[in-house]
Amino acid sequence: MKKIGVIGAGLMGNGIAQTMAMSGKYVILQDITEEALLKARNKIEKSLGRLEKAGHINQERVTNTLSKITTTLEIEQACKESDLIIEAVPENLQLKRTIFEQLDRYAPTHAILATNTSELSVTSIAAVTNRADQVIGMHWFNPAPVMKLIEIVKGIDTSNETVKMIESISEEVGKETVLVKDTQGFVTTRALSAHMLECMRIYEEGVASLEDVDKAIRLGLNYPMGPLQLADYVGLDTMLYASEGLVEAYGDRFRPPQILRKLVEAGHFGVKTGRGFYSYE
Ligand code: 3HC
Repeated sequence: MKKIGVIGAGLMGNGIAQTMAMSGKYVILQDITEEALLKARNKIEKSLGRLEKAGHINQERVTNTLSKITTTLEIEQACKESDLIIEAVPENLQLKRTIFEQLDRYAPTHAILATNTSELSVTSIAAVTNRADQVIGMHWFNPAPVMKLIEIVKGIDTSNETVKMIESISEEVGKETVLVKDTQGFVTTRALSAHMLECMRIYEEGVASLEDVDKAIRLGLNYPMGPLQLADYVGLDTMLYASEGLVEAYGDRFRPPQILRKLVEAGHFGVKTGRGFYSYE
């Protein structure tokens, strides 16, 4: 697998593109506006700069990585010569199904089509294509160039060969993998949501301040980030959407707290909008 198409240049898409290009893959990154593509390129440059400053990569690797990434506004362009296409658009099943119809139309017949969904049904997404055996979940974590795991999700019709190929490319780009069944929230989103929603309820009930809930989990349980800070980082809109899906599958224990719903209603989605549980302005 030499050429990778990435659909969606947001938080996850640009990190996935960067990780692939750092391992020598040619990447074509697609989004629907020039502004989104420009923003993604800036984020990639910033992240590479950070890795260079920390001594993980040299200037030559930075230049090399950037030279391997091209951008486009056309899905067809991102697909037509790619061996693997990774979709990383917002968590909306209908949107993803519409995009997969196009990926199936434009991608070469050998190409694998992967979705970065954190909780939606890979089987349902695959069902709109004529190659459900070559459709798979490839769930990355933010920041993608740093986080070690890829959660591989096998849909009902995903072939073992497709799983092996995704395991192999994940390893090639420096990631560990776990293989999970196609169930709502898989392992990570289900576990993370349970933890974060409960911490939001603890804060909402006034048991401790925002800062102290985060500090307690960070220092007492040795997490790299507090749960409310992490929720801002992941995106409160994403968190709310995930919890609603989990309620449908597993019931009331995933019911979103009022505070989460209110912040999202106000347009405070976390770091990406400048405000969430904390202010970033
Ligand atoms: N690009 C490149 N390098 C980065 C980076 C980025 N975006 N972010 C952090 N780094 C590097 C830093 O350069 C630093 O390198 P060094 O240790 O060699 O100097 C290293 O990562 C650690 O960074 P910092 O010292 O700045 O800060 P932290 O030690 O707090 O690490 C973090 C930052 C890796 C983001 C850490 O806080 C962390 O692991 N947080 C939790 C992240 C997490 O849980 N992500 C998963 C969210 S769920 C998800 O993504 C699934 C989705 O479907 C919702």
